[in-house]
Amino acid sequence: MIENKRVLLIVSGGIAAFKALDVIRLLKKKGVSTPVILTKAAQEFVTPLTCSVLSGEKVYTDLFSLNDELEMGHIELSRDADLIVVVPATADLMAKMAHGICDDLATTTLLATDKDIIFAPAMNIRMWEHAATQRNLISLLADGHKAVGPVEGEMACGEYGYGRMSEPEDIVGAIETYFQKAKPLAGKKILITAGPTHEPIDPVRVIANLSSGKQGYAIAQAAYDAGADVTLISGPVSLNPPLGVKVIKVQTAEQMLQHTQNSLPADIAIFTAAVADWRVENPAEEKVKKTAGKLGFDLNFVENPDILATIAQDITRRPELVIGFAAETEKVIENAIAKRAKKQCDWIIANDVSPETGIMGGDKNKVHIIKAAQQNAWDEMPKTAVAKKLIDEIIHHFKIEARDA
Ligand code: CTP
Repeated sequence: MIENKRVLLIVSGGIAAFKALDVIRLLKKKGVSTPVILTKAAQEFVTPLTCSVLSGEKVYTDLFSLNDELEMGHIELSRDADLIVVVPATADLMAKMAHGICDDLATTTLLATDKDIIFAPAMNIRMWEHAATQRNLISLLADGHKAVGPVEGEMACGEYGYGRMSEPEDIVGAIETYFQKAKPLAGKKILITAGPTHEPIDPVRVIANLSSGKQGYAIAQAAYDAGADVTLISGPVSLNPPLGVKVIKVQTAEQMLQHTQNSLPADIAIFTAAVADWRVENPAEEKVKKTAGKLGFDLNFVENPDILATIAQDITRRPELVIGFAAETEKVIENAIAKRAKKQCDWIIANDVSPETGIMGGDKNKVHIIKAAQQNAWDEMPKTAVAKKLIDEIIHHFKIEARDA
């Protein structure tokens, strides 16, 4: 679960900084890579060399280091990480985080990141109980950051009470729990088709449609973010491949079917592609010349395979959950219900792709989700939000399945 993750450790300057070394050691043992940022004060307690020897990684200390910025800037440092852990989080660092102050590499990275942050507070009990620290704690939690500790115990200053940093084992435990919780689809394999298909007429001309692939790509990203092993079989689109997703690029419906079948078995299959229903029977081998007044050759069409129906009706290799989309311009729900029955998928997501809706090619979508015994209309929302909501439905479905089993 945690192996091969990349956890960026930010060490601030408190006596508990020496325990960060144990956190590095324990994470390394579990196969986690741990680049480290040390604040200036942290270097009074632990050295960059010790951290580097233990982690086997470069240690970063300066915001304005020319070498470090060239090699790996603070933005890349956080972009590369799966999670950021602040250990220890001193009262000073918590205050800076809560107020968005960024006056060194550690605080700048914390402000510039979109990754989740776990922080392990460590300070004297009076500092911990101070109204300012408690206000900052509330702000940090409200911002969505997660705290581990502090715990009650003896402190370096001789006092006893809350403020002692959690033990390294407990911090590593919190990191493991984080990855378990955040990845509810871990262990599930998902196949997704997306985009249009291009059916050749001759070497330079195709029959296509206006699908942008945005909805399918967004679903692939959301599925990967939820921990699934995702294969995206995509027709020609001009989108960046979703991070962490295996993308197979195809042109035609036949290639899309071939690669979808080759990618089985899978637990879940989602068919968002706008597959051309027909292809030209004998595409010309050379570019068809313009002949005055008429098309240079006869276009005979043959029906393309229905990829969704083929997979949904594959008795031996059908994924447990098969989801189709229904692109309609009239009688949206009625047609979608009929399509679900005809193709034999479990759920179908219906949307109205009439030009005036702006859905085809746009960034928003308004869908109906239709299951065996229920159907729900979702509000209009960004395609990325539809993707997350669909993934949440899938997570919910598998939890129910697990309970019934
Ligand atoms: N689909 C598919 N292979 C095809 C045609 C469609 O896999 N050859 C899938 C789509 O990816 C979608 C669902 O079937 O999940 C419905 O596609 P849609 O274009 O709405 O319907 P069609 O089956 O093409 O029917 P029609 O064109 O009559 O609406």
